[in-house]
Amino acid sequence: MTTVLILNGPNLGRLGSREPEIYGSATLADIAAACTDLGVQLGLQIDLRQTDDEAELIGWVHEAAELRLPVVINPAAFTHYSYALRDALAMRTAPLVEVHLSNPAARESFRHTSVVSGVADGTIAGFGAASYELALRAVARLLEPAS
Ligand code: DQA
Repeated sequence: MTTVLILNGPNLGRLGSREPEIYGSATLADIAAACTDLGVQLGLQIDLRQTDDEAELIGWVHEAAELRLPVVINPAAFTHYSYALRDALAMRTAPLVEVHLSNPAARESFRHTSVVSGVADGTIAGFGAASYELALRAVARLLEPAS
């Protein structure tokens, strides 16, 4: 069974209590449970991780590239300025979907730039916790053999 890494950057471990009016009331554990359930339907094993540390996140991206694992990533604030993360993601060897709970394009101007989008297959943003489920469905579609 294919394992999908769902990687989460800084402050996402605080979901549930973090600005719920923007990010909703679901915790990362709730999101992990929903993704695990959907993974069963899609035939995908889910490995969801979170870190506040850029180096650790990049290490996981390297691991994914080596093992040819698809990645769903919410880089959180790193989205907007981490060239190091972008360079790591550019080495990917499997599908890559960028995900956001909120819609950064509708928020402060510093959130309008993603340095990650250009190396992803696509981006899903603005659907709250459901963004993750949509991203997982996108990965499943990308893994389907071309017809
Ligand atoms: C976020 C949007 C980012 O701008 C922000 O820094 C986050 C969360 C989202 O999921 O909506 O931490 O990635």
